[in-house]
Amino acid sequence: MDLLAVHQTSVRIRDECCDLLNHEWPRSRALRMRTIDSSRDSLPAVFALVAQGGDGVVLGTLKMSPIPSDPKAVWIESVVVHPGCRGKGVGKYLMLTAEKKAREEMGYEKAYLSTFDQQIFYSKLGYSFCAPICSYGGNIALKGNLAEGIRRQGQDNSAPKTDKTNHVQPKPTPPFPDSGAVPPAPPPPPPPPLAPPPPPTPAGPLPSSSNSGSPSEDISLQCAKVFSRPSLPSQPPRLEKMPRRLSPSRDIVKTNKDSICRAVLSKDFMCKRL
Ligand SMILES: CC(C)(COP(=O)(O)OP(=O)(O)OC[C@H]1O[C@@H](n2cnc3c(N)ncnc32)[C@H](O)[C@@H]1OP(=O)(O)O)[C@@H](O)C(=O)NCCC(=O)NCCS
Repeated sequence: MDLLAVHQTSVRIRDECCDLLNHEWPRSRALRMRTIDSSRDSLPAVFALVAQGGDGVVLGTLKMSPIPSDPKAVWIESVVVHPGCRGKGVGKYLMLTAEKKAREEMGYEKAYLSTFDQQIFYSKLGYSFCAPICSYGGNIALKGNLAEGIRRQGQDNSAPKTDKTNHVQPKPTPPFPDSGAVPPAPPPPPPPPLAPPPPPTPAGPLPSSSNSGSPSEDISLQCAKVFSRPSLPSQPPRLEKMPRRLSPSRDIVKTNKDSICRAVLSKDFMCKRL
């Protein structure tokens, strides 16, 4: 098995990566191919784990991108193994080979990723939970600051403006409207007293909120139990039967698992020192 940067391979390998990704997370082929075709040496790059010295079927793929806020760290995403060879060590081999490449050939010291539902797989590879990171530049805290800025700006815009440059005095409001003799409505009655606070919720694992960076207690415990830092095996996993190439028309599942995941599950961020 060889891990190849797709821009150094054939159209066939790029197509297979596209089919593999779309089998898992159906999306427009044109958009997928745009990402795949943007692969380059200096990252972002899409990698394919290819059987039989690069001539065989694509067994897995992932994408590595730089993190502008941390030049020593790499962002790993779109990790997928061919459905015909899952649970046989291919995912582990794909990840460890990619990490070795990032460390030894590109000089990265840390890898970050996010996941909805594969926390255990990544914990078994040495990843631990971390604060959310913005993979496209800057810490996610910046997003909070941006939101705060927009909120403040909104408040500023809605607040009455005093024009200090023109010195125009605001027109005084007449005591009653010009149009008729109807006096203004009386002020509304005071609101009813507040309802008593709800009873305290029973103690238990808290669900992590989306992108919060704090996994649920349950998943944290499970991950802590299986955490390990395996080294790259000297030999790739042996597959008794090579899976066949996915057929875009026959094998692409129409359900968008990606959007289901996003709607139901929260995303956790994980990182590993390479
Ligand atoms: C997640 C995925 C890449 C794992 O690849 P794989 O080839 O099946 O994984 P491996 O066989 O190499 O598993 C390595 C270890 O992780 C464990 N593992 C893998 N997936 C797991 C899961 N979903 N839950 C718990 N453990 C898991 C394996 O049991 C194995 O443990 P071991 O080392 O103790 O034997 C693959 O299942 C996949 O492509 N899934 C769909 C796409 C996806 O969810 N990608 C991740 C996006 S964040």
